[in-house]
Amino acid sequence: MTITYTEARQEIQTRLTGLGISLAQAQAESDWVLESLWHIGPEALYTTGDDRLSESEWAQLQDFLYQRTVKRIPIQYLLHEAWFYGLKFYVNPYVLIPRPETELLVEKALTLIQPGMRILDVGTGPGTIALALSHQLGQSVSITAVDVSPEALQVARINQKRLNTQVRLLPAGNLFDPVQSEQFDLILSNPPYIDRALQSTLAPEVKDHEPHLALFPPQTEDAYYFYRKLAVEGKAHLNPNGHILMECGAGMGPDISQIFLQHGYTQVHTTRDYAGLDRIITAAV
Ligand SMILES: C[S@@+](CC[C@H](N)C(=O)[O-])C[C@H]1O[C@@H](n2cnc3c(N)ncnc32)[C@H](O)[C@@H]1O
Repeated sequence: MTITYTEARQEIQTRLTGLGISLAQAQAESDWVLESLWHIGPEALYTTGDDRLSESEWAQLQDFLYQRTVKRIPIQYLLHEAWFYGLKFYVNPYVLIPRPETELLVEKALTLIQPGMRILDVGTGPGTIALALSHQLGQSVSITAVDVSPEALQVARINQKRLNTQVRLLPAGNLFDPVQSEQFDLILSNPPYIDRALQSTLAPEVKDHEPHLALFPPQTEDAYYFYRKLAVEGKAHLNPNGHILMECGAGMGPDISQIFLQHGYTQVHTTRDYAGLDRIITAAV
């Protein structure tokens, strides 16, 4: 005999909190598993909570608990779904899992966007920023997305289809190479910015499972590598009065601002997130 759905939910929570994961996150993940695997939402639990898992559902639960708590694979990779800006994205281990803090970049971009603008997302991963904007704006703007990883772009193509958006996804290439000499009104990027020296401090879910290509600048480079590249190369791809918006890590605002000021950008500004941490850098040409 197997356990009930309510007991399964509790078991997931107990195993996750046992790893030091917060109760709030453990509850969210247990609800997510019940919904995603067995289509049991929180309300349905009132009526079906005492029903027992079938043998195959029991096997599914065991497999989930092993992958999640022993191998420490993020739930998003196990369920192949991640939520961003109210949209469900397909994800796999070739792409960074969209983070809630990146929604601030989308919010900020929306304040600058005018109809007819040409927008470029550099390092689009699963299409996070570009597809969320396209979903909001439809065809009133033209959005192009690039990434160095062909596998990530394949995921972006899947999401493009599922979300029925209109982003121009170019073949893989380094930074601005895929757009050749094209110019844009707005360049957006959430580049890899974690200092490699901090690798050992990251949660196993991040350091052992998310793509290092998406987390860290190249070996031997510091955390500011991509901001220097974006400052130098971005200028050649911005129309007059164009803006560049980038996500950054906590405390990186002053040094990144300095880089952009040194390269002649104006209106350089750091926006903090809801936790009061530097999060978005804006600069204009
Ligand atoms: C931090 S992730 C951001 C993914 C997504 N835009 C988001 O905000 O969730 C950085 C992305 O940059 C890509 N990337 C890394 N190096 C790159 C390069 N040299 N040129 C273009 N993209 C690169 C990675 O493949 C990854 O998809």
